[in-house]
Amino acid sequence: MIKRVRKAVFPVAGQGTRFLPATKALPKEMLPIVDRPLIQYAVDEAREAGIEEFIFVTGRNKSAIEDHFDRSFELERSLNEKGNAEALKAIRDIVLEPGQITYTRQQSPLGLGHAVWCARHQVGNEPFAILLADDLILARPGCLKQMIEVHAEIGGNLVAVEDVPREQTDRYGILDVTTDDGRIAGAKGLVEKPKPADAPSTLSIIGRYILQPDVFDELNRAKPGAGGEIQLTDAMARTIPRIAFHGLRFDGKRYDCGNRAGFLEASIAFALDRPDMQERVRAMLTKYV
Ligand code: G1P
Repeated sequence: MIKRVRKAVFPVAGQGTRFLPATKALPKEMLPIVDRPLIQYAVDEAREAGIEEFIFVTGRNKSAIEDHFDRSFELERSLNEKGNAEALKAIRDIVLEPGQITYTRQQSPLGLGHAVWCARHQVGNEPFAILLADDLILARPGCLKQMIEVHAEIGGNLVAVEDVPREQTDRYGILDVTTDDGRIAGAKGLVEKPKPADAPSTLSIIGRYILQPDVFDELNRAKPGAGGEIQLTDAMARTIPRIAFHGLRFDGKRYDCGNRAGFLEASIAFALDRPDMQERVRAMLTKYV
């Protein structure tokens, strides 16, 4: 029996060094694309996919994220008094029910694998999703929903993947592919950020995962890998003999909001996707190019 995926982990402890000084006092996950913070897109994607429990792995200076998903009585009252129903709805829609959202801290920046390990008690013994808010995905249905549908059929460990130019393999986890039907690829191994010459393929992991809880056994005994960090990719790779590993080429477009140019591109793409803005934005863009 394949268990339903009910929980999602959001690693949000990163320092956001690439966006300094903007991220000096503000978590990078709170930087807005159009009018909502990056992290809200990830949470909305998870909600659409049927996730019921949201586990944030946070760090120092991240309290703005907690406030964002909480109620704000003063703001609600003043919007109510002004009769601003639209803004009221926008802030009420964000709020998750008490107990649906929990926070745990990653006390030292030891890598993505370590961040996920910090959520082991909240996840417990069931399959779970991981969403990296830096990878912003424009897709209908959302990427995680597509993955959950595939996972309900094939089970095991499943990640979102994308083909990248060979010179970029050193930015991603890369699959050592065994089977590939053009949509779903099976892997016999994974390598974190290999040099282009050493990469076993150009199929790269995007920040969406559905994993069996067995990955925590591997993370419990994990040693630092690429970049001296505890890598999620290494822990997943070690489960492969026991647990089938697949990559799904999702239907949609992914934007790397972990760098400035990708962030700007996402802002433009998401504005062009908004019916209330697209016309103005298109006219504005033609002015500049
Ligand atoms: C992380 C993972 C990597 C994955 C990437 C997706 O890397 O370690 O395997 O391909 O996310 O965005 P990071 O971007 O944190 O360096």
